Amino acid sequence: MKAVKNTIAKALVQPTGLTEADLVQMLEYPPNPQLGDLALPCFKLAKSLRKNPVQIAEDLASILQQLPEVDAVNPTGGFLNISLNRSIFAQDIIQSALTDTHRLFSADRGKGLKAAVDYSSPNIAKPFSVGHLRSTIIGESIVRLMREDGYEVVGVNHLGDWGTQFGKIIAAYLHWGDEDAVRANPVRELLKLYVRFHDEAKTNPELEDEGRHWFKELEEGNEKAVHLWQWFIDESLKAFKETYDLLGVQFDHYLGESFYNDKMEPVVQELRDKGLLVKDEGAEVVDLSAYDMPPAIIKKSDGTSIYATRDLAAADYRHRNLGADKLVYVVGGEQRLHFQQLFKVLELMGRSYANNCTHVAFGFMSYNGERLSTRRGHIVYLEDVLKRAIDEAQQIIDEKNPTLPNKEEVARSVGVGAVVFNDLKTYRVHDVDFRYEDVLNFDGETGPYVQYTHARACSVLRKANKSEGEISFVDSGSMSETEWGLVFQLGQANEALTRAVDEYDPSVMARYILQVCHAFNRFYHHNPILQAEADRRDQRLALTLATRKVLAKALFLIGLDAPTEM
Ligand code: ARG
Repeated sequence: MKAVKNTIAKALVQPTGLTEADLVQMLEYPPNPQLGDLALPCFKLAKSLRKNPVQIAEDLASILQQLPEVDAVNPTGGFLNISLNRSIFAQDIIQSALTDTHRLFSADRGKGLKAAVDYSSPNIAKPFSVGHLRSTIIGESIVRLMREDGYEVVGVNHLGDWGTQFGKIIAAYLHWGDEDAVRANPVRELLKLYVRFHDEAKTNPELEDEGRHWFKELEEGNEKAVHLWQWFIDESLKAFKETYDLLGVQFDHYLGESFYNDKMEPVVQELRDKGLLVKDEGAEVVDLSAYDMPPAIIKKSDGTSIYATRDLAAADYRHRNLGADKLVYVVGGEQRLHFQQLFKVLELMGRSYANNCTHVAFGFMSYNGERLSTRRGHIVYLEDVLKRAIDEAQQIIDEKNPTLPNKEEVARSVGVGAVVFNDLKTYRVHDVDFRYEDVLNFDGETGPYVQYTHARACSVLRKANKSEGEISFVDSGSMSETEWGLVFQLGQANEALTRAVDEYDPSVMARYILQVCHAFNRFYHHNPILQAEADRRDQRLALTLATRKVLAKALFLIGLDAPTEM
């Protein structure tokens, strides 16, 4: 679509006096496809051209009529409706899909730029919350989308591996811990210890002192404390990695908060030197009242650093050591203020990259209609959710396709895909609800539905008995409405990618996938493919293969596998 929009825009630069880019922006999709494939609203031009929009539309129509890419133009009431030449467009789109799918999606806008995307970032010994789940799923997709758009991306897991909770966990472990239990189930066991610590501390306040004592020991490098702390991290990471593996998530760097312990002093000193730090009830803070924000605490009154201090050091590290021009943070909306303060402080420090920092926030997730909280007794473990989805997918496959060769692998792809798609099809900042029966429904707007559509295209291609290399675009001379509808969708891959990246919102791509699937299924139900006569058969096979390639890439971009059979 990009190419043809550019062509149309170029032809209109001279008569309108606008730039090509502006004209591309102005082109829209008519609400009723019968009016045309694209439309240019001429109202905005009336002033500069000193003509009424109806007249403008008519004048521009005669210019566009001469383009081979344009089949018909239809000026109606100030809108210039444009119907494309279907065979030129189809040839361009299908051929690109077959030979260079990347080009169909991307103009490599990020070339030469590097981004650091901070995502997942759970806290050790605290629950892996739904917030972390959404961050993991959304973040992974943002990484893939940006890479497709030409960015070099480093994915960073900013593990919460430091803080006073470690003193508490160490104390709790020394009282009630069981090495084998922690080894067998680190995330749950450590959480249990943490919860027990809080329960018992209510009646036995001395425990709090013990917790503080052990955190101090840890900070001072006490061997026993450091050893336990490291062990808790190692065991928890092993468990997290199992989940990451299921999701196909891989980080370039695990750089937890503790990594910045020795990197904060220079930043704090710089803040002092620049006169940005002021004393506030014993604490050292950056006053942000001029920006309508509460002060950013840098050092607490006891001299210790906090989360925000580590984030300052981490931002510099990502820019200087990892070479990132853009810093992206995929973190729940409840930390909005933290990031506003962080970015403001970076700006006050004169950091060149401060304007290229983005907090990508997202909504909550509820489970069968109930808000999830990590309060006691209401914890849903991501691992359990994924495993159950996989089990249920396995049952469905057993019923639907008992002879499928690699059933287990497919069940994994479908179960995980169901959970991921359910999350990503929702506009990022909205809340998501999760119900197994909905997410696994093959007929709804679900992961299984889109994966099944891809598998259906694969099945047609298998039956055609041609290798992918033997299939290429054939112009049969005409195209049915449903064929055209599909080609037209395939032509919008670039717009989907561009918008998804600009808005840091994978739901743009997920909804694009649904559009392509709906269009393919309409095409599939209305046109014989294998039974069609020679030219038509080849045209439709090429369209089927183009769809398969577009779907496989788009599914990858939102973190779903694309099974070829299911
Ligand atoms: N560990 C934090 C939490 O669970 C999220 C970290 C997000 N990343 C960051 N650089 N602050 O709340």
